[in-house]
Parts: sequence; C-alpha cells; structure tokens
Amino acid sequence: MLRFSFLSLLTGLAAAESGLNAWLRYAPYAGSVFDQSKVPLHIVALNTSTASPVYVAGQELQTGIDSIFGQQCNVHHSHWGPSATIVVGTIDEYTSVYGELSSTPELIEDGFWLNTTGNSVQILGQNERGALYGAFEYLSMLAQANFTPVAYAANPAAPIRWTNEWDNLDGSIERGFAGNSIFFANGVIVSNLTRAAEYARILASIRINAVVVNNVNANASLLTPDNIAGLGRIADAMRPYGVQVGISLFFASPTSAVQGQANLTTFDPLDPGVVNWWTNVTNQIYAKVPDMAGYLVKANSEGQPGPLTYNRTLAEGANLFAKALQPYGGVVMFRAFVYNLVNESIWTQDRAVEAVQFFQPLDGQFDENVVIQIKYGPIDFQVREPASPLFANIPNTNTAIELQVTQEYLGQQCHLVYLPPLWQTVLDFDLRVDNKTSLVRDVITGQRFNRTLGGSAGVVNVGLNETWLGSHLSLSNLYAYGRLAWNPADDPTSMVQDWIRLTFGLDQSVIDAITQMSLESWPAYENYSGNLGEQTLTDILYTHYGPNPQSQENNGYGQWTRSDHLTVGMDRTVSNGTGFSGQYPPEVFQMFENISTTPDNLLLWFHHVNYTQMLKSGVTVIQDFYDQHYAGAATAQTFVSTWQSIQGLIDAERYSDQLFRLVYQAGHSLVWRDAIVNFYNNISGIPDEAGRVGNHPYRIEAESMTLSGYRLYYYAPNNATTPFETLSNYTAIVTTNNKTTGTAYTALNYPTGRYDISVNYYDQYGGASNFSVYLNNNMIGQWTANLRPWIGSAEGPRVLGHTPSIYIDGESATRITFSNVSVAHGDVLTITGIPDANELAPLDYVSVLPLGYAD
Ligand code: GCU
Repeated sequence: MLRFSFLSLLTGLAAAESGLNAWLRYAPYAGSVFDQSKVPLHIVALNTSTASPVYVAGQELQTGIDSIFGQQCNVHHSHWGPSATIVVGTIDEYTSVYGELSSTPELIEDGFWLNTTGNSVQILGQNERGALYGAFEYLSMLAQANFTPVAYAANPAAPIRWTNEWDNLDGSIERGFAGNSIFFANGVIVSNLTRAAEYARILASIRINAVVVNNVNANASLLTPDNIAGLGRIADAMRPYGVQVGISLFFASPTSAVQGQANLTTFDPLDPGVVNWWTNVTNQIYAKVPDMAGYLVKANSEGQPGPLTYNRTLAEGANLFAKALQPYGGVVMFRAFVYNLVNESIWTQDRAVEAVQFFQPLDGQFDENVVIQIKYGPIDFQVREPASPLFANIPNTNTAIELQVTQEYLGQQCHLVYLPPLWQTVLDFDLRVDNKTSLVRDVITGQRFNRTLGGSAGVVNVGLNETWLGSHLSLSNLYAYGRLAWNPADDPTSMVQDWIRLTFGLDQSVIDAITQMSLESWPAYENYSGNLGEQTLTDILYTHYGPNPQSQENNGYGQWTRSDHLTVGMDRTVSNGTGFSGQYPPEVFQMFENISTTPDNLLLWFHHVNYTQMLKSGVTVIQDFYDQHYAGAATAQTFVSTWQSIQGLIDAERYSDQLFRLVYQAGHSLVWRDAIVNFYNNISGIPDEAGRVGNHPYRIEAESMTLSGYRLYYYAPNNATTPFETLSNYTAIVTTNNKTTGTAYTALNYPTGRYDISVNYYDQYGGASNFSVYLNNNMIGQWTANLRPWIGSAEGPRVLGHTPSIYIDGESATRITFSNVSVAHGDVLTITGIPDANELAPLDYVSVLPLGYAD
C-alpha cells in the first residue's frame, strides 16, 4: 500500500548516537521526497491487552512511521474502515473482526503473514508474538526504503531461538565485555528493569523468543523467594515483547542452604526428596513466571556438580528437571559441554572425543522436553573448529546449537570479527549420517531426524554499556544470530547489509565499506591468531584475549597443539591418534582421517605433521604460518583506512568510538602476528622465506635507547606470565620503581620526511602510567595507559572492555600511533614514562614508519 515516488533518497547525518537503539533507530530519510499523502494515517492493532505483543506492535509501528516519515498515525484497537491503514493482529482476531482472508497463509507457531499489496497492509501473526515479528519486518523494510509490494508467510525453522546471558547475581558477567548486568546487582534482581525491556525489544525484532538470564555457572541463591519474585518482574518487563525468561540451575541447589527453601543432605536426582525439592521450586517459579521458558543446566562440567556424583546418568539428571517442567510446557536445555581433564603425555587422550562418549550411549533416554545444547565445535568457541560430531550421534534426541555472540576467544569486542561466516562453516556442514545429506542446520531444526524440538542458543552477554556489547560493530553479530536462529540458511552478506542500512543508513559507500570490513574480519582474525586448524592461540589459562601459544600445552584443558621443534598439530586419526575422526559418519571420517583429503584449514586439528609438510596451497606449514599471520595483520590495518573513508557519512559519535577500536585492533593484530611468528620461528628454527620474521628495519627497541629511570625487563624462563614472544627482542623496559619517572631517548637516523610514529607499550590492570613523546623538545603526544576500566567502574566509550591483565604480556601489549609526523635526520626522540601503582610505565619499542607502512 505504501507506494512512494522518490525523486531522491539521500541519507543525512544523524545526530550523535550512543547505540542504545541498536538497529531500531528508524532514522528519517533526510533529503528524500515522497508522496506524503500515501503515508498511512491509521494503525489498527487488534490486541487483547496493553501488555500484549500486538499492542506493542501498534506502538512500534506508530513510533517508526513517525520517526521515518515524520507522520503521526492514530492507533485504533478495533475495526477501522478506511484504507491507508496498517492492520496488525493474530489471524484469529483479524478474521473475527474483518472476516475471512481470501487465502489462508500456512503459519506455524510464531509465524506471520505480511501483505503490502492491497489497500491496507496486513501484518497477521499465527500468535501475538508472530504479529509483532511481522511489524518489525515491515518496519525494517521501511527503514531500508524497501517499498516492494510483498505478500508472504514467514515461519521459523525452529522453536528454540534463545539467548544465554552469563550474568552473575553480583552484577558481573562471565565473558561479558560491556559493563555490568542489566538484570542483577548485589545478589538480587535490580529494581529498574528499563534496560531489560529495551533488550527484549531488540530481541523481538530478531525473533528471539527466550532469554536465560543468569550464568551457566549458576548460583543456588537465585532460588530464594525474593529472587523468584524478581524473576517475575524480569518476565513482566520482557513479556510484552514476546520474550520469555529461562534460568540456569545449580545442580546441587538442594544441598546449598538456599534461604527460604528446604536444605537437603543429597542432590541425587533419583532421591524422592530431591525430586520433591525441584518440583516444589519449579511450582514456585511458575507461580511468579507462568510462561517461564525452561531451565538451562551445566552439570558435571568445569567443577559444576551433576548426576555423575551419585553414579546417575546425565539423562537421569536432565530428566529430573524435565519432569518438573513438563506440566508447564517448559524445556530443559542440557549442555553437552561435559569433559574431564586430560593428560597430554598420553598420545591418545583428547578432550574433543568426550562429548560423544558421554552422550551417545544415552541417545533415546532423554525426555521429550529435553534438548541437548551443543557448542558448534568439540572444544570451545575457537576461531575454527570442525562441526561437533555429537550432532551426528544422537538422532533420537532433541538438539540445539550453542553459538557465542560475545567474542570470548575472538577479540572480546575489541577486535572486529563478524562471526556468521564462521557459524556457517558449521551450520552448512554435511555430516553424511547414513550416507545421506545431513546438514547441521537440518539436525538442529529437527528436520533431519524428525524431532519436534530444537534450535539455537546464543551466548550474548549484553551489559549496561549503551552499545550493548561494548562496540558498535559487534552488534552485527547479535542481529545475524537472531536471523540465523529463525533461518539457519540465511546469508551472511545480506544479513550484514540489512544491519548496516538499519544501523548506519542508506549511503552506498557506507554499506560497501562496512560490508567489506565485516566479511574480511573473521578470516583476518583467524590468520593472525591461529590458522590451519590450530585454534586461537590465546592465553587459555588467563584472559582468553591476547596471544600466548605456550599456554595451550602442559595442562589438562586439552586445547593442545603439540608443537615441538619438528612437528605440530593434534593427531586425531583413528589409525594413529585419538580416534576423534572416527566419531563422524563414514564419509566424513574418511575425509578427515587422511591428510590428503583434510582441508588445509583443519589440517592441524586432525593431523600431527612436520613444519615442512606441504599444504595443498603449495607452501609448507611453517611458511603458511608466517604468510597468513602477516596477511591477517595487514588486513586489520586496512580496517582503519576503510572506516576513515566513511567519515562524515555517519554520525561523529559512533564514527569516533569505532575508529578508536579499529586503531587499537590494528596495533594489537601486530602484537598477535609477531608473537605467533616469533614463537614458531624460535621453536622450529626455520626462517621465513620472505625475510620478515625478526627483521624490523623501522623498529627501535626501547632497550637500545639511552635510559634514565628505566631498567631492562627480560623474559624469565620460569615466568609464564611474560611469554618471551610478546616482548620484541625478548626485552622491554620498566621504570626502576613506581615513584621514578623514566626517560628513554635516541637520535633518529632516518632521511628527513614524514613518518607515522608508533609506540608499543603495556597497559596493565592495576595502574595508569602516563607517557609523553617528544621530538627534540616538542611534544608530539601524551597519553595515559588506562584503556580498560578498573573493575567495577562504569564503562564509557573510550575504554576497552576486554578482560584486563595484571602482567606484561600479550593482553596488555598495546600500540599508539602518531600519524604523519615531520622528522628531520638526527632529530631526538624522547619518551618519558610516569609509573602508577603497579604499572611501571612499560615500553617495548618504537616504530618510525614511512607513511602507510605498518610494522
Ligand atoms: C568456556 C568459558 C567459561 C564458560 C564455559 C562454558 O570454558 O571460558 O567461562 O563457563 O565455557 O561454556 O560453560
């Protein structure tokens, strides 16, 4: 019905934006000319109550149309005759008010019908939630200036489209990088749930239907009567958006002396007292949250208690909750992330095999309302993993895929990494069960094995920061997660482009620039963090953020690469290794069992090879490490200039917030590159054919400068917190104590000209040193090493939310660059460092770089 004649459609500059509205900004078409008389004047919302999603849909349509077109609409709640009307409601309400539709669309639960071809727009849901989804769909079209007449039914691929939030009751968030919880503080549910309602609105627009609000590492005190009442308030805040609440449970809660609940001496899932305990608690919860979605359970995993303590099976543990939930229609999401620590000195031990070993024998023993929630790969959200073989091994059990929107191992929102291309490698993977097409996405939707329940769980971890996730660009991952939960075959490029139009406007150069950066970002991150299936070589014992390849080995976590002087990679073959490849159906097993048919990008996941092993690409493993780490870091440098190309085309606030992060990422990608190539150069002794590794013509090591108040800081072999490869030339400098200002200076013997001057320093948690850089006596820059917040402080846009490090290491290693500085041959460069508390103004090196060259 909306047919506009556009003479021009220009995107104007929006006012400064914080990001709080995410992609629901409804920006006006600045400079556009359209037929104002065609904008609808009336919205009919056939809601049953003011708390219903259809009521919200009416409000949302009113707000959106007002904001996009500057047109005030009236909202009616009963039959309204004239055309130029949008009608939103359930199919049933619509037919009772307006009579039968000419053809009845095929809708399943949460589906909707959108018809813009007639004199009025019909947005009709199978249920109220579906109607709201349809309203958001229509508004998304309008906001993207898409006026194509359409008439179609849209249905979800799967009923479970949940997020998981790893929020603790004290308000902190495990692996959250955007400030504290929107739900909890000081052990209770916060009184002001405005942000929870705003989050529900965002989630409804991407058709997420439930949120598990607390950490999988759960706390029994969530189950006090006060907190159960608080859960009721969260549910009330989110219900108008069709978003249900679920909770994570601590398996040993019956023995945890929860205030207001009985305290038992056992949590044995077959004990009648325990069964009663959970039935009683479940009844209390449903009294406050009548539509509670269900429970999420992490049991016998990473120190969490579970049924194995009592020699009961994981199925018996899951079914305990399933039976309590069953009368209410609730679901148990039971996590497959169950593993014991393993021993690296035993060649055949492998954490990756454990999930199938635990769960495959239980196939068919789980109740119908249990869903096994399976991380996409067999280890833990790494930059590349093969699809978990568990998806192929439990055909008589409901399954859901667990994806991570929060970038725990993947740059913690301080690196741009658009994740759908990674997720797609798993969702589109064909497991060939019974030699038939068996895409993971068809397993989780229930289609492949005829299951009725299934879907997706995305670990999101939004926080109080107004950007929700900590950086503007990382929100594309949340947007795309919702779209994939609805349709796991959706296309990463079209998803990000819709998101860009909604988030930053319709300018084609903005769309092109952000699309390019987004699509290049995951391959770049893989290349500089750990390629060839080695996994992200991050610090797995500490922050999961910066490089620390040594931390992979010699511990029970089984994220080993088994690197030694000659060889690298995990042998996961049946013939000679851990047998993991044998957990796949025969055709896939054959592919991964043989080096010749294993794709290069998973070579080291499946095979232990010499560094000189030739890849299909025609280079050796070690040379590929060097080449890809250099290539990945080089790509990250281009994100800065690509972003700068859109300056003035988006609002200044989000432009500069994101620029700050991309500049940081460009610097940190060099830290990653250098750490990994130095590590492998050192361990293998094989030089880089291209001569780059260890050769830095523009780099001045801090330890080679003339020092006063500074001393040398070396890697100590027994000091695992300072990996040698994260110190350029194995050496940094620190002030002699935390009271003395340090000075380092040197004459620059470069030809007179213009240069970018980069300073690599360490920004540790526990101090805020101050640095100044001078050329002769002129200051060219000054900064405080405090990019990340003190824990507990509010986070503004100019801090990095990644997990801080107290050490001089790959997480604290940071670069600052002063661009386009005029340098004369013989000028003296001086850096002063004023230490603070535990941070001794640590400096690694300075690069004086010809313009456009990064090293
Ligand atoms: C990872 C993560 C933990 C988390 C766990 C899980 O190991 O680092 O913080 O608790 O996964 O998914 O349960």
